[in-house]
Amino acid sequence: MSSPRRVALAGMGIYVPERIMTNKELEARLDTTGEWIQSRTGICERRIAAPEQAASDLGVIAARRALQDAGLAAEQIDLIICATASGDTTFPSTACLLQTQLGATAAGAFDISAVCSGFIYAYAAGANMIASGQAKRVLIVAAEKFTTLLDWEDRSTCVLMGDGAGAVVLTSDAKQGELLSCSLGTDSGGIENLIIPAGGSARPTTHETVDQKLHYMKMNGPEIYKFGVRIIGESVSEALKLAGLNESQLDLLIPHQANIRIIKSAAKRFNLTMDKIVVNIDRYSNTSAASVPIALAEAKEQGRLRPGMHVAMVAFGAGLTWGTVVLRW
Ligand SMILES: CC(C)(COP(=O)(O)OP(=O)(O)OC[C@H]1O[C@@H](n2cnc3c(N)ncnc32)[C@H](O)[C@@H]1OP(=O)(O)O)[C@@H](O)C(=O)NCCC(=O)NCCS
Repeated sequence: MSSPRRVALAGMGIYVPERIMTNKELEARLDTTGEWIQSRTGICERRIAAPEQAASDLGVIAARRALQDAGLAAEQIDLIICATASGDTTFPSTACLLQTQLGATAAGAFDISAVCSGFIYAYAAGANMIASGQAKRVLIVAAEKFTTLLDWEDRSTCVLMGDGAGAVVLTSDAKQGELLSCSLGTDSGGIENLIIPAGGSARPTTHETVDQKLHYMKMNGPEIYKFGVRIIGESVSEALKLAGLNESQLDLLIPHQANIRIIKSAAKRFNLTMDKIVVNIDRYSNTSAASVPIALAEAKEQGRLRPGMHVAMVAFGAGLTWGTVVLRW
């Protein structure tokens, strides 16, 4: 077998819907306050997709921007992986819809289901397709219209999530963002702590499941909080080790945007000042799989990715799943 090929990041793009929903707006419809939401989560506002926009409509804009950034045509892509928990339909996959909308005629396409960790899982899968020689140019799209999965009368969950999309193109010959390591993990022992109980084959949709709102996200917030704090530390630490790096060599952390307090605990764990952590939860809330690629693209736009830097992207979510990707910029 030939040695693994190099994998690097050729381009990136994001799209967030225009409509902004502020905490103030939520105050008016729920028993909550903007102060509670901001102090407990760091969220000030979130984006909400238009009724006619599905996840693929958000993803296709991010994907076109990533292709343009990479200087590639859609026909040059040989694999599309879409990370989404809020895909347009149960089947076909949202990746298939993206393939058609983009005109990526030479591409295979599939979705990955790892919820908020989905982008990291898709990155690992796509990168390994390139490393093994199975694919040359992989488009990864994280697209979420997660607000359709929320019970808008449940103040403990609906204030936390928003809509958005981020995409990256991976190739062997890109100059920046060389992959150093990936680390993935799962512990289904905590499965009930973050789940949409009905609408799948275990509990198909019925009038009863809809009446009981079992087609919406249910979360044990404190348990997921503790899990997030612990797993970010463990996952990043493991991925740095796999990359042959010391923790002190980490230059920029791009964490899943679930809660500013979880992010701050990661800062403490890795002895990082906040200027070494990318945060945009205040503007977008938690966009599930899209949160890390949106933060990555914003870091690039803000000139925070400089040559030689070691960058770790980390996410965690339902499953429970988690993962980290380490790059050298
Ligand atoms: C959801 C989360 C912000 C709640 O914060 P918390 O400090 O743990 O708060 P608790 O869940 O303990 O609730 C404290 C109180 O606030 C109340 N509360 C919950 N949501 C509220 C809201 N939007 N406004 C006002 N009060 C609220 C609760 O009802 C509870 O009241 P009680 O003490 O009278 O029962 C926090 O647990 C969290 O961020 N968890 C992780 C979420 C996450 O990462 N999800 C995505 C994973 S990918």
